[in-house]
Amino acid sequence: MNIILLGPPGAGKGTQARRLVEGRDMIQLSTGDMLREAKSSGTEMGERVAKIMDRGELVTDEIVIGLIEEKLNDDRKGGLIFDGFPRTLAQADALAELLARHGEDLGAVIEMQVDDDALVKRIVARSVCANCGEVYNDITKPVPESGECTQCGATEFTRRGDDNEESLKQRLLEYYKKTSPLIGYYYAKNELDRIDGLADIDEVGEQIDRILDR
Ligand code: AP5
Ligand code: MG
Repeated sequence: MNIILLGPPGAGKGTQARRLVEGRDMIQLSTGDMLREAKSSGTEMGERVAKIMDRGELVTDEIVIGLIEEKLNDDRKGGLIFDGFPRTLAQADALAELLARHGEDLGAVIEMQVDDDALVKRIVARSVCANCGEVYNDITKPVPESGECTQCGATEFTRRGDDNEESLKQRLLEYYKKTSPLIGYYYAKNELDRIDGLADIDEVGEQIDRILDR
């Protein structure tokens, strides 16, 4: 089953996507992660997107649709998790077209609802394992006292360049202006499910499981 995790920055999309990859053998397609990879690769495209991402603005539809299109040719295993894509109506239309071309569709679009105050608190406390990308939080999911990642044992953790209050303000603005209209779009298509993203990580996971097991 292919699903979209839809929600503002810090809603927990990446955290839940990793859980589904582990538990259901699904494949996480995070355009944010793909763009960060391009950013660190030093390519021309990487340099172009780096400045946009650090400001908290959206990269062009053309670039992200191209990234997703490439991935759709790979093995789909237990299904695809679109994490942070689509983010505009044009991207949503492109995704529907791309999936149809592969004879596939969406099994669920899950809106993760979290209020803005919680988002700021979550984002400024986030760190990520530099080796495997496991997501941590200084308050709700701290790195173990041993200093080793629970998933891969690595000991280096990074913080994202756009995880500061100024970029986050812009990311939220972009979300409300360009991405939140997708909630109405998928609701009208009868594809939308809403969950309480403020619950703790396991409870959010259980809400998602109930939707996927329906
Ligand atoms: P992207 O990487 O997608 O960032 P985002 O949407 O801003 O979302 P985040 O990754 O910050 O949050 P998340 O929902 O994954 O939360 P997480 O699980 O980490 O995009 C970055 C940039 O790339 C964009 O700004 C844009 O420039 C560009 N971009 C990407 N896709 C694009 C597209 N399609 N079109 C155009 N541009 C694009 O959790 C956050 C924190 O909270 C963690 O510390 C975690 O441990 C904690 N946490 C998670 N769940 C819970 C919980 N239930 N309770 C308590 N704490 C929790
Ligand atoms: Mg993420």
